Amino acid sequence: MKRRDFTKVCTSIVIAAGAQSSSVLADTKKVSYQRCLLQGDSSGILTVDQITVGEPYLFFYPFVTTPCLLINTGKPLTTDENSQWRGGIGPDKSIVAYSAICSHKMSHPAKEISFINYRHDPITYFNHEEGKSVEQSGLISCCSERSVYDPSQGAKVLGGPAPHPLAAIELEYDDSNGHIYAAGSYGADMYDRFFDKFGFRASMEHKISDPKTLSNDKVSVVKLSDYTRQTIKC
Ligand code: FES
Repeated sequence: MKRRDFTKVCTSIVIAAGAQSSSVLADTKKVSYQRCLLQGDSSGILTVDQITVGEPYLFFYPFVTTPCLLINTGKPLTTDENSQWRGGIGPDKSIVAYSAICSHKMSHPAKEISFINYRHDPITYFNHEEGKSVEQSGLISCCSERSVYDPSQGAKVLGGPAPHPLAAIELEYDDSNGHIYAAGSYGADMYDRFFDKFGFRASMEHKISDPKTLSNDKVSVVKLSDYTRQTIKC
C-alpha cells in the first residue's frame, strides 16, 4: 500500500525523551529509513490485535542485523502537546518500538542469549531520580549491568549505567486495516558502533555477508522468547 492510499494514518514519533546529555538532545532528529511492513512469522501481515499485551516481540530494523523490541504496554502512552514524544500507536495508543541495543555496552538479543528484555511484571532496581531501590512494572531491563529504561517515556533511562535512552523506532499505524509500518529511527542510535563490535557475529547469525544490509520492505516479527534460547531476567 502506498502512503497516499492511507485513509488515516497515525504516526508515532517516538523520540528520545528524557535524554541525559546535550549530545543526545542534539541527536534526536529522525533518521528516515525504508518503510517496512511488519508481518507475523508465518501468518502473514501482523495486525495490532495480534500483539499481546506484556509480550516482548523482536524484529530487525532498519538493518537486517539490528534488533528492535515491539511492545504492547497495555496502557495508553500519551503525552502533552509540548513534548516531542508523541506516545504509542494503535487503537489504544499502547504500542511502541525501540532498538534493542543497550546504550551502555550494546548488549542485545542474540539467538543464544538475551540480557535485554521488556518486563511487564514488576522488577526492583535503583532509580536515579529517587535515589533508592524501587519496584516497578512495564520497563525495559538490561541485565548486563542493570540499566533500566521506561518505554512509556521514550525509553528514558531510569537506572543503571546507560548513558542515554534507547533509539526509538518510528511506527506508523493504518487504522483501516490494523497494519503497522516501521519508518525511521530517532535518538542516539548505536548502529555504527554495533557493526564495529558485533558485525561479524551478527553476519554469521543472520547468514548474510554485509551486516549493514537494509531490511526488506517486509520484516518478520517474532516473540523474543521464540528467537532467543535463554532470556536473562534480573
Ligand atoms: S550493556 Fe546494558 S547495562 Fe551494560
